[in-house]
Amino acid sequence: MKRVLIIGGTGSIGRLVADRLLELGHPPRVLTRDPDRAQRSLPDGVEVVAGDLADPVALRAAAAGVDAVVMTHGAPYGSGDYAAVDYGAVPAVLDALEEHRVPVVLMSSIGVTASGGQSRELLEWKRRGERLLRVSGLPYTIVRPGWFDAGSSSHQRVDLHQGDRIEYGPARRDHVAETIVQALLTDSARGRTVEVFSADGPALTDWAGAFHAAEPDRPGDLDGARDRPGPRPQAEPERVRADLRRHAHTPLTHEL
Ligand SMILES: NC(=O)c1ccc[n+]([C@@H]2O[C@H](COP(=O)([O-])OP(=O)(O)OC[C@H]3O[C@@H](n4cnc5c(N)ncnc54)[C@H](OP(=O)(O)O)[C@@H]3O)[C@@H](O)[C@H]2O)c1
Repeated sequence: MKRVLIIGGTGSIGRLVADRLLELGHPPRVLTRDPDRAQRSLPDGVEVVAGDLADPVALRAAAAGVDAVVMTHGAPYGSGDYAAVDYGAVPAVLDALEEHRVPVVLMSSIGVTASGGQSRELLEWKRRGERLLRVSGLPYTIVRPGWFDAGSSSHQRVDLHQGDRIEYGPARRDHVAETIVQALLTDSARGRTVEVFSADGPALTDWAGAFHAAEPDRPGDLDGARDRPGPRPQAEPERVRADLRRHAHTPLTHEL
């Protein structure tokens, strides 16, 4: 049995991850700012812990003794809290884990490597979070969902891709959650960045094979294996460079 901390476990994807982990015999721990609401809405067996990502003491307590971390958090769209929440969660979790080297599965988004578009600011902060986790030295998987439940309900197949091809489209929420859970439980998912979509065709059953077929990220490279190259660290905000200096445990292929 694994004790998994879910950051964002009350959200539309995180609660499906919590349900599935419970079903598989891994009762999760969910961090939330509103424990009463979470107790009411999450099934029995889920451990609810109160805390905000911005509170290092609460986060350290939440992370104590866990075997793995899932991150499906996100600031409300349009809130502008992306630096604090979408990105900030990653250095906050790395701080909370200290030297505790456990697998981390981070939900990000398709489109993080594209330039322009309405969601640019959000996606840039998500990419920065991905990049920090990639060089943290932790055994990670980054899962980038397509557009949630966008006309995909009849699609049975989980389709994993790489290279951030935004045109691939929709992903069922349950498919996103299943991919996150399987990434957590599958060794061949480590060190990989995948996009998840829902498509026609038979359901994916060989998760180990599917993750193994994905190209691993290059050690020390900030970007995913098949991504377009992202900005040099020197072009990033000082806060991001400071986090890279503090948390990068893998020798970087980029100058800081
Ligand atoms: N919509 C799409 O098609 C799409 C596609 C790809 C990726 N995404 C990404 O998916 C994310 C949204 O996922 P979702 O729908 O599952 O999320 P959601 O339903 O909006 O839930 C957000 C979660 O984040 C947690 N959270 C936010 N701020 C927090 C803080 N300061 N401290 C602790 N927890 C905090 C919330 O916890 P509490 O409120 O309980 O504290 C909640 O569990 C977004 O970041 C979005 O960019 C969306």
